[in-house]
Amino acid sequence: MSKKRILSGMRPSGKLHLGNFFGALDSWVKLQDEYECFYFAADWHALTSEYENTEMIKESITDMFLDWLSAGIDPDKSTIFIQSKIPEHAELHVLLSMITPLSWLERNPTYKEQQQELTNKDISTYGFLGYPVLQAADIIIYKAHKVPVGIDQVPHLELTREIARRFNFLYKETFPLPEPILTETPKLLGIDGRKMSKTYNNAIYLSDTPEVIREKTDQMFTDPQRARKSDPGDPKICNVFSFHKLFSPPEEVSEISHSCQSARIGCVDCKKKMASRVITFLSPLQIKREYFLTHVERVEEIIETGIKKAQGIARETMNEVREAIGI
Ligand code: TRP
Ligand code: SF4
Repeated sequence: MSKKRILSGMRPSGKLHLGNFFGALDSWVKLQDEYECFYFAADWHALTSEYENTEMIKESITDMFLDWLSAGIDPDKSTIFIQSKIPEHAELHVLLSMITPLSWLERNPTYKEQQQELTNKDISTYGFLGYPVLQAADIIIYKAHKVPVGIDQVPHLELTREIARRFNFLYKETFPLPEPILTETPKLLGIDGRKMSKTYNNAIYLSDTPEVIREKTDQMFTDPQRARKSDPGDPKICNVFSFHKLFSPPEEVSEISHSCQSARIGCVDCKKKMASRVITFLSPLQIKREYFLTHVERVEEIIETGIKKAQGIARETMNEVREAIGI
């Protein structure tokens, strides 16, 4: 039996951090054996908010692909490509836009939220309103069955299903209705205790050197009750401890928990241990990253192959789509 197909994308925003890794990439890697996976850089989606700052986009795609490959996205198993290299996505987007009621887009929660949050950018554009229509095109053009995404993307997946359902109903049964696979919400916060994010400047990157990782962990917030080493701490409310839970072996985690609560370990030492674990964890990824960085022609070949494969499927689907509509 042929494997079910998975598709997912990320907007290129440059180097990936630990939050991106545990929030998405790690699950993408794990899905590769069970499914036929397609992963792409959503550079058109990046343009919906970054249309004034386009100079970083290409470089961001390269940085992001290097991180994907170093984290274990395997080009022999998965197809990696760039959205803007497959113009068929745009053709399907235009056709889907004809059948998508405005009211579906206007009530999209991410649309309303982002309008309020991104006050420094003018995103009252036609393209931004149509963001989920483009996302629907990305997904159904490959007839994907499953889409690994974070919880914030679930409304977009719901819209994708509604649009696909409407197409199937109006013209011809063409698209499977894709289901989300919910990737875990990241358990890691940034070094300042807020959500780990590039914009907050609080992230630990997959490509950070050991020195940088040590510097960043030194600055991390811990249990604020522990002003002195003799004050007992509460690991449950400490972000450093969340890192230990992910990166340290279970015996060490429980030892740290006890020592923290009985004030037998200081935060400085605890952070040092944690930094070493993170460094050890990232070391094999960074060796791989270095390999690809010094073999860019291999990376280009992987992307070229991915684009060809994706385009073959996208073209076939578009033939069916045009025929179903009758144009
Ligand atoms: N909107 C997604 C995000 O911001 C990126 C994306 C674009 C996507 N097209 C997609 C994700 C198709 C899954 C499937 O994270
Ligand atoms: Fe956090 Fe470790 Fe300090 Fe406890 S000892 S408060 S777990 S950094």
